This record gives sequence, C-alpha cells and structure tokens, in this order.
Amino acid sequence: MGRIVAVTNLKGGIGKTTTVVHVGAGLALKGARVLIIDVDAQGNLAMALGVRPRRTLYEALVDGAPIASCAVSARPNLDIVAADESLLTAQPTIARRPDWPRVLEQALRPVRNEYDFIFIDCGGSLTVLNLNALTAASEVLVPTTVEPFSVRGLEMLIQQIARVKGSSRSLRAVIPTMYDPRRRQSLELLEQLQASYGALLASPIRVNVRLSEASSVGKTIYEYDPRSRGAIDYAQLVELLSERWAFSPPAQAPQKPVAAPAEPASPAPPEPIVAPVSPAPVSPSAAAAQAADPPVVSGAGHLLSSSCPNCGGPLSRATVAGYRVAYCNHCRYRRQELASGRR
Ligand SMILES: Nc1ncnc2c1ncn2[C@@H]1O[C@H](COP(=O)(O)OP(=O)(O)OP(=O)(O)O)[C@@H](O)[C@H]1O
Ligand SMILES: [Mg+2]
Repeated sequence: MGRIVAVTNLKGGIGKTTTVVHVGAGLALKGARVLIIDVDAQGNLAMALGVRPRRTLYEALVDGAPIASCAVSARPNLDIVAADESLLTAQPTIARRPDWPRVLEQALRPVRNEYDFIFIDCGGSLTVLNLNALTAASEVLVPTTVEPFSVRGLEMLIQQIARVKGSSRSLRAVIPTMYDPRRRQSLELLEQLQASYGALLASPIRVNVRLSEASSVGKTIYEYDPRSRGAIDYAQLVELLSERWAFSPPAQAPQKPVAAPAEPASPAPPEPIVAPVSPAPVSPSAAAAQAADPPVVSGAGHLLSSSCPNCGGPLSRATVAGYRVAYCNHCRYRRQELASGRR
C-alpha cells in the first residue's frame, strides 16, 4: 500500500508546493509511482507542472466521482489531482457531513494500491481540507523557512499535528527551505533546528531563484535547470527520503501511470523531462575510463542494454540533477541512477 504523505505548514509561501512538486517528480524519475494532490484552492500545484486538468478534487470530494477519474498524468509515473477555486465552496459542504474529517481518506482508498507515494499539498491554514489531509496521511513532511517566526511557529504546528494524529510519530522530516547560507541569522537558526529536531532535520534547500522561474513556466527544476542549486538540493532530499522510506527503484521497467495524459496548459508540446547534456570534451584517459565504466547500472545491479526493454528502440542517455538517466523516446521507459562522485 502506498504511503500517504501530507506536506504541511500553517505559514503560507514557505515552499510546500515546491517541495511536493520536486519530491514527487524526483521519486517519479527514480521509478516510483507517484500521485500528488492539491487541497489548496489556489491551485498552484497544477500550474507549477504546466498542466490544466479538466476535473479537480472538487468532483471527487463533493460530487462523489472516483478520484482516479480526476487524476491526470503530469509526467511519466507522476499523476496529479488538481484543485481550483471551487474547493472554497467544497469546504462548507464537506463540513456538514458527519464523517467530515475522513472524506479525503475515503476518496483515496481505491487508488492507494496504485501508487508508491501519494503526496498531499496542503494550504497555509487549518481548514477542513487540511484537517482531512492530516487525517488521511500516514506521514507528514514539514517544510519551513529558516526565519525567526517560522522556526518559533514549528513547535505549535507539531503540537497541532500530534492533536490530529494522536502523536507526533508521523512526522517524517522537517525541511528547511529558502535557506541562505550567507546570512549569519540563517546559520544560527539552522543550528537551533538541528538541536531541536536532530535526525528529523533534512539538509536545507537553498534559496534559488531558478525554482520560482521553473514553476512560472510550468516546469520542474529538473527540467528547467538540472544543474541549479535548487535541483541539486531537491535531488539530495529525494535521496534522503528514499532511504528513510526504504524505496529502491523497481527492477522491472517503471509501470505506466494509471491516469490519462493531462491537457498541456500551453499549446506548445511538452518538452522531454530530462534535458540532454551536451557531451563535454573528454581526455584520452577519461575516455578509456568511460569505455571501461558501464554507462548505466540498474538499482538491482543489472547492466542495462542499449536498447529499450519495453519496445526494443534505442535508449537515449542524459544526466539530470546528478542522476544518470536512460530513457526511450518511443515508449515511456525510463531508468535512473544517482551519478557517483561529489557534485
Ligand atoms: N528554495 C527556494 N528559493 C527561492 N524561491 C523559492 C524556493 N522555494 C520556493 N520558492 C518560491 O517561493 C514562492 C512560494 O513557494 P510555494 O508556492 O512552494 O510555497 P507554499 O508554501 O506552497 O505557498 P502557499 O502557502 O501560498 O501555498 C514560489 O514563488 C516559489 O517558486
Ligand atoms: Mg502552495
């Protein structure tokens, strides 16, 4: 059964949606089947991925439509249930139901086995929908900016999570976002967070304008600028969470997503998810080492052949955000490994 993970903080604009997009997309690139769900009427999640689904969470929660019929494929292995302003009118309707805290949990039950991870992007206040998200979630991620008010507000937030969930054991990670290592205050606050949360504290996501540029054009940072600090930091977070959740890439080709493809928000065709890196000049000794080094090795330790195991077409290779990716342009096959060495 898939893990249901709420990404929450009562403060707005601190990187919740950005974290859902990049943890979700990063795990999908590693071969996990991922569903991301927006419970915020601002509808930022779909915008950040450049998709405009016709059906939204409203239909599932209020009209009783199966949630699978509201999900669309945003990228290979990455499905989305989007939201829009209609969710504002859904809240009073849901609140009148006797089972109101469990409406989302019940809606998710039929699709839980279809995914390895379901991430819920919460809004910035304790609404009926955010309480539904916390009730449905088996685990919670808390992004926080490294600023005095955010850091002080964390304790209160964690108490609220504990009140809804019965304990704070579901808290899986506190993720410092928009971290600026040039500021002394940020360094001190990060130390404070380390002292308070110990192993629960993830390594920080540094402030990086490329992240907001990427979302404004509907791309993930892995597509928009895979060499940026934002891409590297989120790729590292994906590795940490994969370890924490003991997720390893499937030995078989990743399953095709269950949802129908989304309509692109713009008429332009979607670009490939990975940006091929143009080959750099290689010295003779490096060329010899490369020839000896198999280009891609699967998580299970199998050497991949240069043809696609799904359709037999040629496999292309690229490096994205520190991963070596082999992908097929003819079908949706994709395999990915963390490139060795420090970046
Ligand atoms: N590490 C970062 N560096 C720079 N900008 C960032 C970073 N992370 C997120 N942003 C930008 O900050 C803005 C707010 O981020 P985001 O939408 O993820 O926050 P949120 O917590 O989901 O907000 P809301 O509460 O409104 O839903 C966005 O424009 C986003 O692109
Ligand atoms: Mg948001």
